[in-house]
Amino acid sequence: MTEPDIKKGLAGVVVDTTAISKVNPETNSLLYRGYPVQELADTQPFEAVAYLLWNGELPTPEELAAFRLEERKHRTLADNVKTAIDLVPLDAHPMDEVRTAVSVIGAFETAGTGNVLDAVGTPSENLERSLQLFAVLPAIVSYGQRRRRGQEAIESRDDLDYAANFLWLTFGDEPEPAVVDAFNRSMILYAEHSFNASTFTARVITSTLSDLYSAVVGAIGALKGPLHGGANEAVMHIFDEIGSADRVVPWLDAALAEKRKIMGFGHRVYKRGDSRVPTMKAALDTLVEHYYRPDVAELYETLEREFVSRKGIYPNLDYPSGPAYNLIGYDTLTFTPLFIAARIVGWTSHILEQQASNALIRPLSAYNGVDERHIDGYVADTAAIDVQERPEEAIG
Ligand code: COA
Repeated sequence: MTEPDIKKGLAGVVVDTTAISKVNPETNSLLYRGYPVQELADTQPFEAVAYLLWNGELPTPEELAAFRLEERKHRTLADNVKTAIDLVPLDAHPMDEVRTAVSVIGAFETAGTGNVLDAVGTPSENLERSLQLFAVLPAIVSYGQRRRRGQEAIESRDDLDYAANFLWLTFGDEPEPAVVDAFNRSMILYAEHSFNASTFTARVITSTLSDLYSAVVGAIGALKGPLHGGANEAVMHIFDEIGSADRVVPWLDAALAEKRKIMGFGHRVYKRGDSRVPTMKAALDTLVEHYYRPDVAELYETLEREFVSRKGIYPNLDYPSGPAYNLIGYDTLTFTPLFIAARIVGWTSHILEQQASNALIRPLSAYNGVDERHIDGYVADTAAIDVQERPEEAIG
């Protein structure tokens, strides 16, 4: 028998087609429905990019106005979702909080459907569900940060677009245009990235004919890991650990001697630089200027220069977005939930695409356990175990 060709981590495996985005590592480019992501970030509000990813075309001004009206209708945090969030311990990770909130929304939205097949919904129902999650996530993420700071939830503002309203919901201040612009860019850059781990998770769950909410909950679990979305949070821990640019070299010497992975660098697909980094770095530069924090830029650039020259591994999007969210005022623990609020668009676009042309995703594995063996008369003598006499901890 020939040995199976194992692609550990599915590296290099093409599992399906997608018309949503194209990542080209050769040219360091990322296209959403054909448009370079940099052009979209420079010219579009996040709502227009969400519309594009879901529908395949950018909206006309009338379509955008109608879409925004619809989005504004679904911004409010329902009482049952707020209650569910309040049940999550304040010291739990906020990713668990958002995952719980989406799970509760899903349970209410699909309640009464009677059987699992009906819970899947029609394509138009699922587009509607996607828009509703997109619209409410800013309230969920913002409330999470506020309650950890001992603050009350804030009502959405109908006069503000998505990005400005998001910042309003978190901080309760009229957001400055420069900050709104940088935040809007980050949302666009995070929105979609082909078959990354969380999107693939969503597609695997969808492929079993499970519902959209279950797929999103699974995707949130995948995004939480520091090798994926959790890296933007991990970058900030590194910045805090280093402290200032003059401490980069000794810190890096020690980290590399300990064979630590430096978060915010490296990528499974891009090996010569992440296409999204220059746009996010420009947004970070605007924030550095706005808040007058040249020390942040100095630390950022020194660590990048030192790490790239030693390892030849380039920054990914999480490297500039971590310090950018920090400057805006987000707590480090809120960074990955912000990623959810953006990536919900990519996940749901892929869920819709998977549903439209489904095949159960079920790979094979190569067994490397013990050889076949037999019971040979062995029977566990359970009657001899007296449960009452077992020590407390063994029963647990
Ligand atoms: N710091 C230090 N070394 C790194 C590194 C990093 N950030 N990223 C990759 N490497 C090294 C690995 O240790 C490995 O070295 P080795 O061959 O001596 O064992 C080599 O580069 C290949 O790395 P590998 O982890 O196999 O690449 P991958 O394609 O499987 O992984 C990532 C890609 C993203 C998981 C990896 O680069 C990483 O862990 N980065 C940090 C986390 C991060 O920023 N994630 C966000 C991704 S958008």
